[in-house]
Amino acid sequence: MSIDLDIILKKYKQGKREDLIPLLQEIQDVVGYLTEEAIVKVGSFLGLSTTKIYGLATFYSRFRFIPSGKVQISICNGTSCYLKGSQEIINKIKEETGVSPGQTTRDGNFSYEIVSCMGGCCNGPVINVDGEYITQVRVEQLPEMIKRLKYVIEND
Ligand code: FES
Repeated sequence: MSIDLDIILKKYKQGKREDLIPLLQEIQDVVGYLTEEAIVKVGSFLGLSTTKIYGLATFYSRFRFIPSGKVQISICNGTSCYLKGSQEIINKIKEETGVSPGQTTRDGNFSYEIVSCMGGCCNGPVINVDGEYITQVRVEQLPEMIKRLKYVIEND
């Protein structure tokens, strides 16, 4: 087990199943996603089967089971952004990256997720690219944006 997992598990009480979600969240915050190793360790620590843990964790869209891309994009699909065309943004990003929300491109460059509201409703549709908010996003600007990001990743 990696040191990070050991340190995290020590903060929790063995066998206390109510801690499952906060424990998984903390692991994800530190490691970046829920590895198979982490699921197995948490299972034996809390006395839960890995099937049960996967079942519960997949119910929450915030948990990831694969590493994020080098660039992580969040697309708001809250009511306000939806009314301003966020679905077209989602479709275009899916087309440009070739993967679905929650997946990572084969080259490891991109992953994206759909979120409910990022607090910028008046300026929607809103996306967030590695922590930077982009407002009033237009579908036409996405191919160039993805191309530019790819160039930056590959020449970094
Ligand atoms: S609904 Fe998109 S920022 Fe609020």
